[in-house]
Amino acid sequence: MELKILPMTVHDIKGVAGIEEMCFHVPWSRESLRIEIEQNRCARYFVVKEDENILGYGGMWLVLDEAHITNIAVHPDYRRQGIGRLIVNTLMKTAIKAGIERMTLEVRVSNHPAIALYKSFGFEEGGIRKGYYANNREDALIMWNFHIGGYFDENQDLN
Ligand SMILES: CC(C)(COP(=O)(O)OP(=O)(O)OC[C@H]1O[C@@H](n2cnc3c(N)ncnc32)[C@H](O)[C@@H]1OP(=O)(O)O)[C@@H](O)C(=O)NCCC(=O)NCCS
Repeated sequence: MELKILPMTVHDIKGVAGIEEMCFHVPWSRESLRIEIEQNRCARYFVVKEDENILGYGGMWLVLDEAHITNIAVHPDYRRQGIGRLIVNTLMKTAIKAGIERMTLEVRVSNHPAIALYKSFGFEEGGIRKGYYANNREDALIMWNFHIGGYFDENQDLN
């Protein structure tokens, strides 16, 4: 499988919305994705493609000295093949290039695969937001990595 990871464009919105619908109970709409790409100057999003098929995507906001991961999702048929790792690595590399060393995110406390992925990149548990997720009032685990420079692979380039 030959994968590319590329900055997300408006042409990717349909494919990314499809991934969102497969992966989340409350998926982001195409409109929310479009606003992120076209209007949010803090946003940096990437898609992982095999030929023209989108297999995963992820993004973050760069705000002052912090990067905040907003979402990462991989097509269910393509998990455990390193795509999630490729996305986190690319986000970290992009943040470092922007002069940012601190990264944070929220994740459902029940989301063990994602928590394991983030821990493998040096994220630590930083606190709980009670009832953060509106659909079932599930708590969010806040995770932090204050020195992302030590956790990504510099040699993994964007195609
Ligand atoms: C979380 C998610 C993005 C991981 O994507 P992925 O492509 O399967 O992840 P990778 O193959 O790169 O896995 C990297 C590491 O993460 C951890 N990991 C990933 N999935 C895991 C699982 N199901 N159980 C335990 N650890 C897991 C492992 O440490 C893994 O390394 P290994 O395969 O060498 O053991 C994917 O499961 C997903 O899209 N989930 C639904 C959406 C979601 O919950 N997103 C996160 C929102 S905060």
